[in-house]
Amino acid sequence: MLKAEGLNGGYGDVQILWDVSLEIGEGQITALVGANGMGKTTLIRTLAGALPAYSGRIVYRGEDITKTSQPKRATMGIMMVPEGRQLYSGLSVEDNLKMGAYVRRDREGIKADLEWIYAILPRLKERRKQLAGTLSGGEAQMCAVGRGLMASPRILLLDELSLGLAPVAVDGLIAVLKDIQEKKNIAVLLVDQDVQVALGIAEKGYVFVHGHVEFSGNSQELLNNPEIQKAYLGI
Ligand SMILES: Nc1ncnc2c1ncn2[C@@H]1O[C@H](COP(=O)(O)OP(=O)(O)OP(=O)(O)O)[C@@H](O)[C@H]1O
Ligand SMILES: [Mg+2]
Repeated sequence: MLKAEGLNGGYGDVQILWDVSLEIGEGQITALVGANGMGKTTLIRTLAGALPAYSGRIVYRGEDITKTSQPKRATMGIMMVPEGRQLYSGLSVEDNLKMGAYVRRDREGIKADLEWIYAILPRLKERRKQLAGTLSGGEAQMCAVGRGLMASPRILLLDELSLGLAPVAVDGLIAVLKDIQEKKNIAVLLVDQDVQVALGIAEKGYVFVHGHVEFSGNSQELLNNPEIQKAYLGI
């Protein structure tokens, strides 16, 4: 459903992505793992349209979107949940969630989705009037995921799900991802420092080294490959 073909990209003169090719299937959870500074965030931002590609192609449901703007990609169903959450700290949880729907015009659908998010993330409902800047780390991450879902995406590009969270909070969010995948067929590209978490939930994984796909394949096979474990996954 979302494909990168020979993608090169980066920041001005500083090239970070080198000939990246990958594919995320319809309704699939795909993991992108790799050490710090390898270019995972850069790739997510390029796929979302927050950063232009130098060359190569991004194809979404058969359509070339390499030059399509980020808001347009969002209306097409590609939504990024950025690293560091980036909530509007002075706005309430509910207003943050509603901001996620900025690309939509279907008021009834927006209302229904807000209720749906409160149902799958009940903590957010309890905290809906609270300022986002005062949420705990886990709550803030829930709010960021909820905001992404408010765009009614077909694919979520999720940068660092578990960073700084207690294992129980991570488990809760993973259950939500599985649920939205199964019930709403929303695909996820999941970046996470914790490779056990990312590859544990994903069907397919990509191992990123210096802005390049070094290995890819079935997540369990990647996790169980001793060579990959030792050299790239730090386990
Ligand atoms: N705005 C920028 N200008 C120049 N270089 C940048 C910029 N943002 C990131 N970089 C560099 O790009 C490289 C890749 O960074 P990126 O954030 O994509 O890595 P990452 O894999 O997400 O790392 P982490 O696991 O630490 O989040 C790093 O060397 C980083 O310093
Ligand atoms: Mg990153």
